[in-house]
Amino acid sequence: MHQVASVAVSRPALQPRDLTVDDLDAVIDVRARSIGLMAPGSREEWLRGARTAVAERRLIGVFDGDRLVSAARVWDFTQWWCGRQVPMGGIGGVVVDPEYRGRGVASRLMGALLHRCQERGLMLSALFPAAVPVYRKLGYEFGGGRHRYSFLADELRRLGGGDAPLRRATPDDAALLLDLVTQVRAQGAESGPVGWPQAEVREWLGEEDTFAYVADDGFVVYRWEGSDLQVDELVAGTETTARTLWSIVGSGASIARTVHAYLAPYDPIHLMLGREAAKATEQQRWMLRLIDAPGALAARGWPPGAALDLPIEVSDAEIPANAGRWQLHVADGLGSLDADPGAGRDRLRLSSRGLAALYAGTPMATLRVAGIATGGTADADRRIDAAFGGPAAFMLDYL
Ligand SMILES: CC(C)(COP(=O)(O)OP(=O)(O)OC[C@H]1O[C@@H](n2cnc3c(N)ncnc32)[C@H](O)[C@@H]1OP(=O)(O)O)[C@@H](O)C(=O)NCCC(=O)NCCS
Repeated sequence: MHQVASVAVSRPALQPRDLTVDDLDAVIDVRARSIGLMAPGSREEWLRGARTAVAERRLIGVFDGDRLVSAARVWDFTQWWCGRQVPMGGIGGVVVDPEYRGRGVASRLMGALLHRCQERGLMLSALFPAAVPVYRKLGYEFGGGRHRYSFLADELRRLGGGDAPLRRATPDDAALLLDLVTQVRAQGAESGPVGWPQAEVREWLGEEDTFAYVADDGFVVYRWEGSDLQVDELVAGTETTARTLWSIVGSGASIARTVHAYLAPYDPIHLMLGREAAKATEQQRWMLRLIDAPGALAARGWPPGAALDLPIEVSDAEIPANAGRWQLHVADGLGSLDADPGAGRDRLRLSSRGLAALYAGTPMATLRVAGIATGGTADADRRIDAAFGGPAAFMLDYL
C-alpha cells in the first residue's frame, strides 16, 4: 500500500465581499449545485433582481482567492410587530459550493450579512432555514410560521353576502395597496408579515400571471397554479369586502377545484366557511434575530396596558452591541432598552436566541424548558408573556 505524503498547502483565507455584476454567472453556478437549476425562462428575471441587489450592495459572496464559493442576498423589508413596522433584513438564497461545505463558509457569510444589516439600519433579520443549526449558532430562533391553506373553490363561490364595489388593480395602485395593508395590520395588531418596498409591489402587480382587484378597504392578488388558483394576498377591512374578494376567487370554480392561500391561522375566512380548510395544511417555519436590540424594542408595538420594568442580561457573541445588562421598560404602548450595568436583583438572562424567540411571542415557560432563558421570577414571567404575547406571528411570503 502506498502512502501519499501530505503537503501543507497554504490557502488564501476565505473572504466575504460585495458582489459585482461580473460575479453573477458564478453565483448561478453555485446556486445550481446547491438548490437546482433555474426554471426555464426565469434566468433573465433573476438577473434583473440580482443586478439591482448588486447596485444596492445587497448581494454578498465569500471568495477563495478569485473564486466565488458562496453567496446570499439581503432584502430591505419591514416586519409587522404588534401592528407597527420594524426595519427587517430578509436573508435569502444562502448557498455554498459543495466542495467548500463543512468549513464554516456559511457562518462566515452570515457574519458579513449580519454586519450589513447593522449598516443598513435593519433592526431585525429573518429567514427560512434549510439547515436550522447554521442559523441557531448565529443567534436566530424560530419566530413564526408560513401557512398555506386549501379550500374548495365552490365553497368560496357560494360564500355570498358581498357586494363591495371592486375594480382591477394596476401597478399604479402599489401605494394604495400598501396603505390598505398598513391599516389592516395596525388594526389587528398583527405580528410577522413582511412589508415590501413599493417598487417590488409595483412589479408584482405588473406580472402577466397576477390578477388583482381592489375595494375601498381591501384587495386580493391571485394567480393560476396549474388548474388550481393560488391567493398571494387577500386583505379586507370589513365582512362585506372579505366576502366580495373571496367570491371573486371562488367564481373560478368551474375550472379550479381548489384555491390555495397563504393566511394567518386566525384569518376570518376560517370562521366564515361551512367547511374547514383541507387537513393537509402546509407549514414552513421562519427564524428571527435581533440586530439592534434597543432599536427593535423601541420600534415595535405593544398591547394596550402592557407594563414592564425588567432587568435583563443578554448574551450575544455575534453582535456585542446587543450584549450586556439592560433595563427593559414598557409603558403606554412604548418600549425602551437602556443600559443598566448595576447588579440588579432577579435579572432575567437571555441568549440572543432567547431574546429573538421572546420578541416573537414565545411563552417564557417554553424558553425556560428549551434552555434559552434563565433567572428572573415567575411573577415577572406572567407580565412578560402579557407584553410580548398576542396573535401568533405569521408570514405570507417566502424570502
Ligand atoms: C446549508 C449550507 C448553506 C451550509 O453551509 P456550510 O458552509 O457547510 O456551513 P458551515 O460550515 O458554516 O456550518 C455551520 C454549522 O452548521 C452545521 N451545518 C452545516 N450544514 C448543515 C446541514 N446540512 N444540516 C445540519 N447542520 C449543518 C455545521 O455542522 C456547523 O455547526 P458546527 O460548527 O457545530 O459543526 C450548505 O450546505 C448549502 O449550501 N446547502 C445547499 C443550499 C441550502 O440548503 N441553503 C440554505 C438555505 S437556508
